[in-house]
Amino acid sequence: VARLRVYELAKKLNMSPKELLQELEELGVSVKSHMSFVDEEIANIIIDLLEEDRGKKSKQPSKSKRESDEEIEKEVVEKKKRRKITLKPDELKLDIIAEKIGVPQNKIIQDMFVKRGIALRPGQILKLEEVDQILKEYKVEVELEEEQAPEEEIDEFELLEKKYQELYEKEKDKLVPRPPVVTVMGHVDHGKTTLLDRIRSTRVAEKEEGGITQSIGAYQVEVNGKKITFIDTPGHELFTEMRARGAQATDIVVLVVAADDGVMPQTIEAYNHAKAANVPIIVAINKIDKPNANVEKTKQELVEKLGLIPEEWGGDTIVVPISARTGQGVDELLEMILLVAEMNEIKCYPEGPARGVIIESKLDKKMGPVASVIVKDGVLRVGDAVVAANTYGKVRNLFDDRMRPIKEALPSQPVMILGFEDVPDVHSNVYAVESVEKARNIVEKRLERLESQKQTKKHVNLEELMKMMQ
Ligand code: GTP
Ligand code: MG
Repeated sequence: VARLRVYELAKKLNMSPKELLQELEELGVSVKSHMSFVDEEIANIIIDLLEEDRGKKSKQPSKSKRESDEEIEKEVVEKKKRRKITLKPDELKLDIIAEKIGVPQNKIIQDMFVKRGIALRPGQILKLEEVDQILKEYKVEVELEEEQAPEEEIDEFELLEKKYQELYEKEKDKLVPRPPVVTVMGHVDHGKTTLLDRIRSTRVAEKEEGGITQSIGAYQVEVNGKKITFIDTPGHELFTEMRARGAQATDIVVLVVAADDGVMPQTIEAYNHAKAANVPIIVAINKIDKPNANVEKTKQELVEKLGLIPEEWGGDTIVVPISARTGQGVDELLEMILLVAEMNEIKCYPEGPARGVIIESKLDKKMGPVASVIVKDGVLRVGDAVVAANTYGKVRNLFDDRMRPIKEALPSQPVMILGFEDVPDVHSNVYAVESVEKARNIVEKRLERLESQKQTKKHVNLEELMKMMQ
């Protein structure tokens, strides 16, 4: 039997002895060195084996396929490491999940069919059980967490307020005094409405037939040539809600305390609201015409229950005894209001775009959405584009506090606006902007964002999602 050395065989096979030794080792044929002898018969088998092996390597794409499989596997592992995928109910589709877990759709379809007997189609909307199986198959740790909150967009509506506050800071020299806006508060039946009616009836010069039929929620009177605005729909929510919205309609609070009843629970409550809002307080001790009125005792209670010390007792609280019924002391009260207004430098920015606060709003059968607004800055005009927290519009008509049509409203003036698309939120700020398009834009964006914020606030986990879908 002819024998040949390994290096001779290598030559025959057109490879180096070293390469041959490696190949032989891989085939499980042990040869000591390239000088070793190999029987010719064995050499032929080796040649066949090697050729077969080479053929396999070159012919079969299986190796490269295997490689790509491995690559996919590797990718899956890697992505798994850093992945916390999020799924919304409308994302339960095979293509989306494939994308998210980083496994090709076709591989998922194959794996799911072969290993779990589940038939899927590309892009199919999946049932939760199927999603669950896929996640298990690829051992993907999935946390169904809530969607990432959308990037903090600037709220253009809030920006309008910020811009105004900046104006106040930067252009202090342009601020001018405006009439005070007064809210009357106090315990039930202590005489708030009677006082407001008294002031209005004695201070509105030209009396109309049948009196004032319709209230717009506030009115303005003139005292010694100076104006005072009264809000006649007081309520604690006026303070709490406006404060929450960064709006403020009131400059001065008149706290009405009946001289025959003294400081009562709602007196204290009203006082606390005014104090929290940092609004100056004037106390009106009412019903002094009554025989059982006790002004001194009431003052005593102001000190004891509210810590308010009347000026005449050395404190700094202005206390005016009045009778809303007879009108006694009411003029003095009005003068005190003007005094406090002057001391507190109640001002406005007269040149900017109008800014105001909504004190009442409703849907009127004939007129559509109507809003009573107290203008705080600038001049509000018919034709202005306006924007509130929840809606916008173009001012179609303006009415003053006696429902007379007017063309423009000045700072501190109460005015009724017609022309909003929808009923604006009461206690919202209102701003005039360049155009109706801009107003619409601001509101639409804002409402859209508020809606999406509502949705993303809901935390969802897989179990909850399962329940939701069942
Ligand atoms: P609510 O809105 O229910 O909280 O009451 P109010 O604070 O508006 O009191 P309102 O003005 O309705 O007065 C209550 C009662 O007290 C009415 O019967 C008034 O006529 C009476 N009243 C109010 N002011 C005076 C006053 O100065 N003297 C006298 N004698 N009675 C008064
Ligand atoms: Mg009342």
